[in-house]
Amino acid sequence: METIAFFNLKGGVGKTTSAVNIAWHAANEGIPTLLWDLDPQGAASWLLNSKAKTKTAPKKILNGKTPIGELVKSTDYANLDIIPSDFSLRHLDQQLAQQNEQGKRNLITKLVEPFGENYGLVILDCPPSFSVLTEQIFETADSLYLPIIPTHLSLRTFEQTRDFFKENKLKAKRLHAFFTMVDRRRSLHRVMLAHPPKMLKNGLTTSIPYAAVVERMGDHRAPLPAFDKASAVSRAYAQLWQDIKTTLSEF
Ligand SMILES: Nc1ncnc2c1ncn2[C@@H]1O[C@H](COP(=O)(O)OP(=O)(O)OP(=O)(O)O)[C@@H](O)[C@H]1O
Ligand SMILES: [Mg+2]
Repeated sequence: METIAFFNLKGGVGKTTSAVNIAWHAANEGIPTLLWDLDPQGAASWLLNSKAKTKTAPKKILNGKTPIGELVKSTDYANLDIIPSDFSLRHLDQQLAQQNEQGKRNLITKLVEPFGENYGLVILDCPPSFSVLTEQIFETADSLYLPIIPTHLSLRTFEQTRDFFKENKLKAKRLHAFFTMVDRRRSLHRVMLAHPPKMLKNGLTTSIPYAAVVERMGDHRAPLPAFDKASAVSRAYAQLWQDIKTTLSEF
């Protein structure tokens, strides 16, 4: 099993859109895939038309009273399951911090481990923050993918994450940036794509264009390739999945 995460400290850059579309592509190739929506906003759950069964009490998951497997739901797509988000996840960070203080091991790693029995790929959709939760995700994920809008401020958030990895002796090679919401009418976007900054040397080569059809995922409550395979942005997501596979050891 491989565990991957879509992360960026910056909000609204395409983490969830990418997580949902890549999950669809992996599942469509026959890889048993689990998408864990770790963001209390619950956007990935909403896009996949999924709701948590009951109110998730993070405490009960963390102390083992609710086995995490009980939170898994199937989706409308073969090979694709989800752990939907719940608003009570907003307390998860506090709980993880308490457990950290008690010297307990990385809970996210511990919770993900047993999924190796049933899934080939676990995808974590992260909230836009730096927190105990995201630090645990950094340790758990085999690879992390960071959507970046080609602007200086977006690059800065990538740099902050990379520096955090270095300072904390985490392998920064696991960080793979890729450009999203690319608008070739904008000169800065064109320049950055033509001359990607050195710090993105482990980045993916595929870039995702800005396209209004992406917003229609919300109308359909479905991944983009489930209702549109022909548009340039949908083809870019198919290509992005191929790119991501080259960074994974198991596929
Ligand atoms: N390539 C794209 N072209 C046009 N719109 C896009 C594209 N990718 C994402 N969007 C839109 O941008 C908004 C933010 O996308 P998304 O929710 O995936 O970002 P996010 O990084 O997960 O946000 P958050 O930080 O709030 O979790 C959504 O309305 C989405 O439909
Ligand atoms: Mg999101």
